[in-house]
Amino acid sequence: MAGDPVERMHELRELIAHHGRLYHELDAPELPDADYDRLVRELAVLEATHADLVPVPDDSPTRTVGGAPSAAFAPVVHRFAMMSLDNAMDHDELSAWGERLARSVLRVRNAAAVAEGTEAVRSEEGTALAEPPEGPLPLAERFCCELKIDGVATALTYENGRLVQGATRGDGRVGENITDNVRTLGDIPTDLGPNAPALLEVRGEVYLPISAFEATNAALLAAGQKPYVNPRNTAAGSLRQKDPAVTAGRQLRFWSYQLAAIEGGPTFDSHEQSLRYLESLGFPVNPEIRVLGSLEEVLAHCRHWAEHRHDLDYDIDGVVVKIDDLALREELGSTARAPRWAIAFKFPPEERTTLLRDIEVSIGRTGRATPFARLEPVFVGGVTVETATLHNEDQVAAKDVRPGDTVIVRRAGDVIPEVVGAVPSLRPPGSEPWQFPRVCSCPLATPLVRAEGESDTFCVEAECPFQRDQRLIHFASRGAMDIEGLGERTVRLLTEAGLVRDPADLYTLAAESLLGFDGWGEISVNNLLRAIEDSKARPLANLLVAFGVRHLGPAAAAVVARAFGSLEAIATARAEELATLEGVGPVIAEAIHTWFARPSTADLVARLRAAGVDPQAPVASSERPVLAGRSIVVTGTLDGYTREQAEAAILARGGKSPGSVSKKTTAVVVGAEPGASKITKAAELGIPVIDEAAFVQLLETGALPEG
Ligand code: IVH
Repeated sequence: MAGDPVERMHELRELIAHHGRLYHELDAPELPDADYDRLVRELAVLEATHADLVPVPDDSPTRTVGGAPSAAFAPVVHRFAMMSLDNAMDHDELSAWGERLARSVLRVRNAAAVAEGTEAVRSEEGTALAEPPEGPLPLAERFCCELKIDGVATALTYENGRLVQGATRGDGRVGENITDNVRTLGDIPTDLGPNAPALLEVRGEVYLPISAFEATNAALLAAGQKPYVNPRNTAAGSLRQKDPAVTAGRQLRFWSYQLAAIEGGPTFDSHEQSLRYLESLGFPVNPEIRVLGSLEEVLAHCRHWAEHRHDLDYDIDGVVVKIDDLALREELGSTARAPRWAIAFKFPPEERTTLLRDIEVSIGRTGRATPFARLEPVFVGGVTVETATLHNEDQVAAKDVRPGDTVIVRRAGDVIPEVVGAVPSLRPPGSEPWQFPRVCSCPLATPLVRAEGESDTFCVEAECPFQRDQRLIHFASRGAMDIEGLGERTVRLLTEAGLVRDPADLYTLAAESLLGFDGWGEISVNNLLRAIEDSKARPLANLLVAFGVRHLGPAAAAVVARAFGSLEAIATARAEELATLEGVGPVIAEAIHTWFARPSTADLVARLRAAGVDPQAPVASSERPVLAGRSIVVTGTLDGYTREQAEAAILARGGKSPGSVSKKTTAVVVGAEPGASKITKAAELGIPVIDEAAFVQLLETGALPEG
């Protein structure tokens, strides 16, 4: 960063204070956490490197915690400060913490040993070392690893078993009294029973499940209101309501992660023991807590959760690694803002800000007009994102994002990137709300139609070249006819040159008309024609998918193909016949029937047939239908089966293998590294969880193990 460091530090402190207020006090942050953290880190580096120029003020954001408590709630002075945590952004930083810790541990133990006159680590001269030697040190500690819940830190005080106070963190020293609000959370016990200690303070995180967040936002959008940015802010906003009845309606939950004070009760040596005790008193303790014996295991654990964070129905933004030994914690102590005995391993951010260059509208194969953002490329959620969906007209309006805005982009797991909202303070002057275009952007420029009461807008022109291209791209795509080399660019070239209008035209393409086309030589032409030729014998289900019949996905297409066996049989099937198939139902059945009843479909099918398209009929299964009507979910890696093979084995025996656990699930098969949410769900619903050996048995006999 060029410029005067003192000035920059000043500027950063003001920026951080502004965004800190928005986050902590107003529950309405403008910046994603990652952007905020960057500002704090930049300041911390400047402070550390320029300590000689200016002393660091005590109220620098690098030394303080949270925000000022709101005057809307009575203040609560915390018994002990509610601290923050230092962050490790990657494995190197976690290892560096491990080494710092090793050094401190050794120092503490040496001091104790010297004081007791027992054996300490000594220098070659034989004197006890005040400072441990340079270089990496062995560390044999127990680390308690917990998920870092992205919620709102809350302290609960119980006297003689009765909940007497709930408080937010506030600035760490003084928080807000939210007792009436926390009482409305079903997860938080209000009476601990006769064995409760005289005094107990429990700290933990109030959070909103993702499913509840999505439901809340869907309701807000339906009412034309601005949606919440993420579950954390929704949780914070819901918890800090003047009217506890509003809090009660929000489905907030709680995980306990710290026994902060106890009088007149048991004492503990380890953090883990204290959590078990809280559990025994009825507090919810997260099931994913692990005590690990080495930093290597801790790293592997963090890596695991970075990959599996989306298996959970609540947001986590990292793993908190804590020294388990409580006596050692005491010795290690804290800095002004964070304990030395813990660190938060933060996952790579899934939300970042970037410039919204423009809003455009894409036309899909059904004619749906979807607005999307053209962005200044930004690295988020592990990939560089240049475009992100804005879903529909109402969402753009509700989020009020405009070209030229700095916007928050979210990419979580496999979900397609999304624009969450704009940063209002960074909006350029004179910008206007974005208007949905009135006409399709294709050369035909036909008016776009939005039906009364619908959220989507459509181009309804059957000849729209954009729709036609999208239909062809879909026809050639992987789960459909899988024609290698026939992607968006090639399709566009072929249609613009007038060589192809619909899928049947692909099968009459001649080498002569393609040679020299866009500089293609013989090899490119032959490759494309061979790929098209090969697709003629794709399975019937793939051809059904390729047609792009509304509502008809790959699973239902497979069922229909298996039941009817040929294109002609499906084309003449009655909707009622189709609807009786497992996994099809009346909506899909009607859509298939309507599609095949169109004259244009009959023409397309006839031309495909004439060109030699001859889809493979599904082979009848030779297996006994021991799983007929049953639903088996597979999670994790099995030794003897790939995921596809396991599913095929279930289908071949008449069963189904959906991707998620529900009331209808018969059993959940668990391999290595399973999805935690599937197991939790199975446990909640009382569904048997079986291993690979039991799965093999199940495939053979249809029977589940006893018990
Ligand atoms: S321990 C003194 N454990 O992260 C340390 N904190 O950035 C007390 N958090 O204020 C915190 N999950 O709100 C701890 N398993 C966990 C946590 C956790 C989420 C939050 C907590 C804390 C913040 C620090």
